[in-house]
Amino acid sequence: MTILITNIKELLQIRNEPLSYVAGKAMKKLPTLKNAYVLIDNDTIVDFGNMSEAEGIEADEIIDAEGKLVLPAWCDSHTHIVYAGNREQEFVDRITGLSYEDIAKRGGGILNSAEQLRQTSEDDLYHQSVKRIKEVMHLGTGAIEIKSGYGLDTDSELKMLRVIKRINVDFPLKVRPTFLGAHALPLEYKSNKVGYIDLIVDEMLPKIKAENLARYIDVFCEKGYFDLKDTDKLLTAARSHGLIPKIHVNQFNILGGVALGVKHKALSVDHLEELDDNDIDALKNSSTMPVALPGCSYFLGIPYTPARKIIDAGLPLALATDFNPGSSPSGNMNFIVSAACIKMKMTPEEAINAATINGAYAMGIEKSYGSITKGKRANLIITKPIPSYNYLPYAFGNNHIDSVIINGERI
Ligand code: NIG
Ligand code: FE
Repeated sequence: MTILITNIKELLQIRNEPLSYVAGKAMKKLPTLKNAYVLIDNDTIVDFGNMSEAEGIEADEIIDAEGKLVLPAWCDSHTHIVYAGNREQEFVDRITGLSYEDIAKRGGGILNSAEQLRQTSEDDLYHQSVKRIKEVMHLGTGAIEIKSGYGLDTDSELKMLRVIKRINVDFPLKVRPTFLGAHALPLEYKSNKVGYIDLIVDEMLPKIKAENLARYIDVFCEKGYFDLKDTDKLLTAARSHGLIPKIHVNQFNILGGVALGVKHKALSVDHLEELDDNDIDALKNSSTMPVALPGCSYFLGIPYTPARKIIDAGLPLALATDFNPGSSPSGNMNFIVSAACIKMKMTPEEAINAATINGAYAMGIEKSYGSITKGKRANLIITKPIPSYNYLPYAFGNNHIDSVIINGERI
């Protein structure tokens, strides 16, 4: 099956050379081609160019994109999209005065989601999550990282990871699974952190390895959750099972988790709402991608990750949704790109780079996703007729997507 998209007003993020990610000043450059075509063969982009060169190209299906832009589908490198129930009561409690930390202290927050998830069957969890997966595909997400971390016991963590695996098999979007057993201390280990860490190391990790259920290891490295020593121990153990670190750091406090992540060759360090010069220095000369989650800053009313400080230091930055029931109940990457421009002063070019090629890098899939490149997967967004790509973040909260193609399939 071949699809030819013709008369594209502007084709964004075209890259001819292999590229891992863009950093610093290079993030301001978004290569584009006006009056373009793209040819897809099954799941692969096989050709693109100017309309003047399209004559004679035949295809099973032709899509006329007159007045429309085409760009790579979003690469959302940080989500907790598999969860049970919701936490809208905590949302109201925060409006009326409690903080995210207050709610966690009284046993809500992550533990509330863990309680709900433990009582939900694997099938039910799958169906609840699939609803959201379908939603984000329509919003243009073509590749997604999904974390466990609402099970907090062996069976429930494995249940989450199996649901993630099923989603990967059943849907055309690319899924990368992450084990986040160290998301919070479950109630039954409330005063026995060592015991819970031992459970992760001695029981969960070997089982996950045996079933090959995760590629990445994540830890919530934060005051009141897992400190530097815990994180070091967990990452060391997980790496011995072949898992690569991608960690939650600097959401509320700077503990030194960024440098620890770099030491463990983390693929990404995520959140970074708090960030100091030592963190920036640690990231320089590393291969670790900093990831900002502006949906969480927006929803919790906490600071935004200092994107300018990061990019102006010559570093790369990726953007992701953090889709989860507690701190960012939205998987809309279009909103994330807008929020990055509006609240973090990223240019549209920087934000689009951060949400495509850099997001792909933060999931280890940059060789096949994140740009319009011959040989890469056919993951594309076709916009409605819009004046320019600046219009995408500018006219925030509106749906500018006409259609989405994921793995060569029209969604
Ligand atoms: O990335 N910070 C830790 N984990 C999630 C939120 C988890 C929750 O509140 O359910 C996050 O923000
Ligand atoms: Fe998160």
